[in-house]
Amino acid sequence: MNKTIITISVILISTVLTIPVVFSDDDRDEYRQRSLGVAPVTSETYKSECSSCHMAYSPGLLPAGSWKKIMTGLESHFNDNAEVDNEDYKIIQDFLVANSAEKSNYRRSRKIMRTIGKDETPVRISELPYIKREHDEIPDKMIRYNKKVNSLSNCIACHAQAEKGLFDEDSVKIPGYGHWDD
Ligand code: HEC
Ligand code: HEC
Repeated sequence: MNKTIITISVILISTVLTIPVVFSDDDRDEYRQRSLGVAPVTSETYKSECSSCHMAYSPGLLPAGSWKKIMTGLESHFNDNAEVDNEDYKIIQDFLVANSAEKSNYRRSRKIMRTIGKDETPVRISELPYIKREHDEIPDKMIRYNKKVNSLSNCIACHAQAEKGLFDEDSVKIPGYGHWDD
């Protein structure tokens, strides 16, 4: 190597070494979310069509097959009619499938996938083995017999940030009982 090349290399290397590594608030939020939650809901069509009776569940809480099964049976959706028009149907289904649990690298989605058998297509998040296990110490009086909750499906009653995909223990508050200490 000649001198010029060496000089240039030294300059380049020292420049790279002195650039400070900056983590913005956004990076930190994303890190927190990836390790603690599921991806947030980003489709406005999904939010407006699927959150009038319950919260808009994050797509990362169920595998693609489950979302397809749910979308196929909207006219008799848990004893309700949740049909949407054809255009919205496609937007919603594409969004749910593209962001489903097996497509996600968020920690909770991966945990959910690990507890579902290959041939299973559960339609209830509240009955997934992983979700049931995380809540099995909470007594019925705080869920089923709690008028402000009614069922484990009502994630947002206790996880105020559930629509943002955040389920960490620090932000859990059970209505009428407050913070949960286990
Ligand atoms: C007309 C009311 C209504 C609309 C609109 C609606 N749902 Fe539901 N959904 C229900 C009811 C009722 C349940 C059962 C809740 C329960 O048992 O506590 C339910 C349950 C669910 C569950 C399972 C929750 C659990 O227990 O884990 C999913 C997932 C779901 N809905 C997805 C959707 C999607 C996707 C859409 C939009 C295409 C949608 N829902 C629109 C009424 C509705
Ligand atoms: C009655 C209140 C309540 C409802 C409803 C509820 N949760 Fe929870 N959830 C909790 C509590 C309390 C914990 C902490 C449990 C523990 O540490 O033993 C928890 C823990 C979790 C965890 C694990 C968090 C961690 O840091 O380990 C996840 C994920 C979660 N909930 C998701 C959900 C989803 C998804 C729903 C809706 C389908 C839901 N929860 C409904 C109260 C609730």
